[in-house]
Amino acid sequence: MNLPNIKEARKRTDKKVEFLYDKYKIPDSVKDIGKGKKYLILTYGCQMNVHDSENISGIMKELKYTLTDDMEKADVIILNTCAIRENAHNKVMGILGRIKHLKEKNKDIITIIGGCMPQEESVSNTLKEKYKWVDIVLGTHNIYEIPKLLDNVMKEKKQDIEVYSVEGDVIEGLPVKRDSKYKAWVNIQYGCDKFCSYCIVPYTRGKQRSRKHEDILKEVESLRDNGYLEVTLLGQNVNAYGKDLEDNYTLAELLSDTAKTGIKRIRFVTSHPWDFTDEMIDVIAKYDNIMPYIHLPIQSGSDDILKKMNRKYNIKEYKTLFYKLKKKIPNVSITTDIIVGFPNESDEDFEKTIDIYNELKFDLAYTFIYSKREGTPAAKLKDDISLEVKEERLQRLNSIVNKYAKEANMKYLNKVVPDTIESL
Ligand code: SAH
Ligand code: SF4
Ligand code: F3S
Repeated sequence: MNLPNIKEARKRTDKKVEFLYDKYKIPDSVKDIGKGKKYLILTYGCQMNVHDSENISGIMKELKYTLTDDMEKADVIILNTCAIRENAHNKVMGILGRIKHLKEKNKDIITIIGGCMPQEESVSNTLKEKYKWVDIVLGTHNIYEIPKLLDNVMKEKKQDIEVYSVEGDVIEGLPVKRDSKYKAWVNIQYGCDKFCSYCIVPYTRGKQRSRKHEDILKEVESLRDNGYLEVTLLGQNVNAYGKDLEDNYTLAELLSDTAKTGIKRIRFVTSHPWDFTDEMIDVIAKYDNIMPYIHLPIQSGSDDILKKMNRKYNIKEYKTLFYKLKKKIPNVSITTDIIVGFPNESDEDFEKTIDIYNELKFDLAYTFIYSKREGTPAAKLKDDISLEVKEERLQRLNSIVNKYAKEANMKYLNKVVPDTIESL
């Protein structure tokens, strides 16, 4: 048993990241355990988690399980969870009740909980104390251990919690069962070192680690050769790609080399406004197969709040970058994330968010009510805005978001544009 520890999760040492190519192995004893059996996987959270679920599915497929979307028919139920806000957490706790009910009828069902939630001390402790019937609990660092954990649980028939609060390594060579035949997620970076004061990700995902560009490009080339039309390069702060490697290879170079593979479309998420270089902008503008789409979370229109959020840019700097992108990249579409109701956000602070939105007119925004995450610096601030006010602010903001989103979409009315259409 290994339980998470927030102090360990916060640590950033200069321990070298290891690139591990042979961590994932299938013990002989479980080679065929899935024959004739079904698994169901429910995924919450960001694209990174969606892609992790594709890796988990890849493992389940190698163990000979087949996928079902009917919980009643599943022999193994996997929840790949997200910890970003309270409501993500609540959804998972809700579904656990349903699974418990099924398990009372059939005790052979195996339940696995993975992803970001078990990385929280409180969650793993609750699972240990109150949800003993959950068979396997793992975190974000040890997906590769699933075969071994299944093997153990089948033999021991008791709960196994293996969650590591470590900075993390780069695990290569996991199998993948992709959801789409044409669009693929490609990790380029794991973890995050930005420590925005409200955010749990640096604790659940470990330190920022970039994959080697050779491995990324090999993956893209193989996807291209297998008929994939689009790749989305994934990371929490893709702009900072490579900063933790020794070869000075940057995201600008990675984008340009990915473009040269000839894959039809390239996207990347998420860009932090902090590390956006002019070289990156030039590369995006230069290659037709790099989509002119940038997700650039602003979070708030108030410098005071940005400071309390530890975002490390102010509105003036954000605007300079925004206008530079608009000027240099033809037809660029820029979207954003905004949090309302951060502790101490005054009416004036919120008006500044509305003002900047009216000025920049984003193509779309993902908007959230601030949610206190235990262990983050913001959790120590008094969450002093009532839910009523938070909801009012969210509604007002969303009506503006929708107005400009419609305007952005109307630009395409009666126009014919290339797209990738996939039937499921
Ligand atoms: N790495 C990305 C964002 C990842 S999380 C970035 O920095 O841009 C996605 C979004 O969730 C964030 O941009 C933020 O708007 C929101 N978010 C994160 N923590 C939150 C919290 N505690 N409460 C509400 N929203 C939060
Ligand atoms: Fe969270 Fe900030 Fe890292 Fe994004 S950059 S994942 S918001 S800590
Ligand atoms: Fe959620 Fe973890 Fe992603 S907290 S948003 S699944 S990194």
